[in-house]
Amino acid sequence: MPLPKVPFRRGSRFQVIPRAFIRDPLDFVVRETLRSGDLFRIRLFHRTIHISTNLDVIRHVLQANHRNYKKGPLFRHLSLFLGQGLLTSEGDLWRRQRQLVQPAFYKSQLPGLFGTMTETALRFCDGLQARAASGVPLDITREMMQVTADIVLHALFSTTMEKDREEIYQYVMEAQDYSMYMTTHPWMAPVMHLNGRRRRIEERRAYFDEWIYRIIEERRRSADRPDDLLTMLVEAQDAESGQGMSNQQLRDEAITLFAAGHETSANALSWTLLLLARHPEVRKKLVAELSSVLGGRPPSWDDLPRLVYTRQVMEESMRLFPPAHAFGRIAIADDEILGYRIPGGSSVFFSVYALHRNPEFWPDPERFDPERFAPDREKERPKLAYMPFGAGPRMCIGNHFAQVEIQLLLALLLQRFEFELVPGQEIVPQPLVTLKPRDGILMKINRSHADHNSSLKNTL
Ligand code: HEM
Repeated sequence: MPLPKVPFRRGSRFQVIPRAFIRDPLDFVVRETLRSGDLFRIRLFHRTIHISTNLDVIRHVLQANHRNYKKGPLFRHLSLFLGQGLLTSEGDLWRRQRQLVQPAFYKSQLPGLFGTMTETALRFCDGLQARAASGVPLDITREMMQVTADIVLHALFSTTMEKDREEIYQYVMEAQDYSMYMTTHPWMAPVMHLNGRRRRIEERRAYFDEWIYRIIEERRRSADRPDDLLTMLVEAQDAESGQGMSNQQLRDEAITLFAAGHETSANALSWTLLLLARHPEVRKKLVAELSSVLGGRPPSWDDLPRLVYTRQVMEESMRLFPPAHAFGRIAIADDEILGYRIPGGSSVFFSVYALHRNPEFWPDPERFDPERFAPDREKERPKLAYMPFGAGPRMCIGNHFAQVEIQLLLALLLQRFEFELVPGQEIVPQPLVTLKPRDGILMKINRSHADHNSSLKNTL
């Protein structure tokens, strides 16, 4: 007997595509999961998409049978610009590259990167203080994008000129927007050529390529290499063959790490600042921890494990607003999941946003409550119920880097500033490649009283 198909969720009478999905995919999946169960199927144009928050499905697709699954069309479009780096490559090429890049992200490497991270973050805080001094509200999502982009660029290349930084930033932004658009509007490809949008990105790519290949060559020749990610990548060698990466492979991995490594962290920080502005009692507790552990100085590497509540706030914020809100795979060959047939060529999508709101694991799921992540409460739920960084062999390579970066920035920002939400804004989560606030978040940024007091003490 052939296996049954996964239950189909169609729209009302004449709609094959549920209109509610197009209107608000985040809310649709949360509601539909509660109503139809944690595995269902929709049709989106010519594609069959299975949507799931079931832990056995996650385990099967991302871990046990991951070799039968590949990444989807978004990554095919992205690879035009990012090349064959970790995000976009598949199979043996991906496995070899993951082994070569992984050591640069071992926990033991992070203390070395923490120094540059702190310098960049402190410089950013000084700039923010100057920009906020006039009292004009600022869009904190833009601010967070700027600092996380600077942090990852410094971690990668140590120093970069302002103009080059801006070019790289624009290139990746436009490539990402273009790829997302082409994934949802594949029939628009000829228009993109005619209206010049594709050509503009290719010009930016030419600029970036010239820049990066020059930097790679300089790095290969240099006897005195800086202590950064690019040096680690240039020196990485295959354990068996002793072979390193080609210049093109280095280029692809470097731009991939920049693309994957700033917008996600920026969104995590923006959502956290929003939640803290809305929950003064949590902010107060966090500031009290900062003051008792740090007493006004910037955190050192050894302080981070002692900032327990700061970490809980970060984790709870990524539960409610996971920057990688959903990700999927395409089945290569037919498969069987929970007794259903998954045809080869169809997609399986995991909504991390809906998983993190499953009341089975998260009682009163909409409530912002960092106590859920208190160290003694970890055992209350299965491990996979929380997966902001994905799961299985393709789990985020930068997860420790990102957590250190977010914890550091939260500490520095909350020590120095009070963030006040400008009233009357509608803040709408927009699920694109990452989950971002659609129209940004305007905040008034004031010097914190604690910071005033500590600088007064220093001057007396
Ligand atoms: C809060 C911040 C971050 C979040 C939420 C996040 C989330 C994720 C997720 C969910 C995946 C897996 C996607 C999938 O399985 O399809 C992923 C992959 C990846 N991430 Fe992150 N990420 C973050 C920060 C970073 C940083 C800072 C870097 C690097 C500096 C980075 C580099 C990567 C790379 C290279 C991959 C692909 C790994 C592979 O396929 O082998 N990410 N990330």
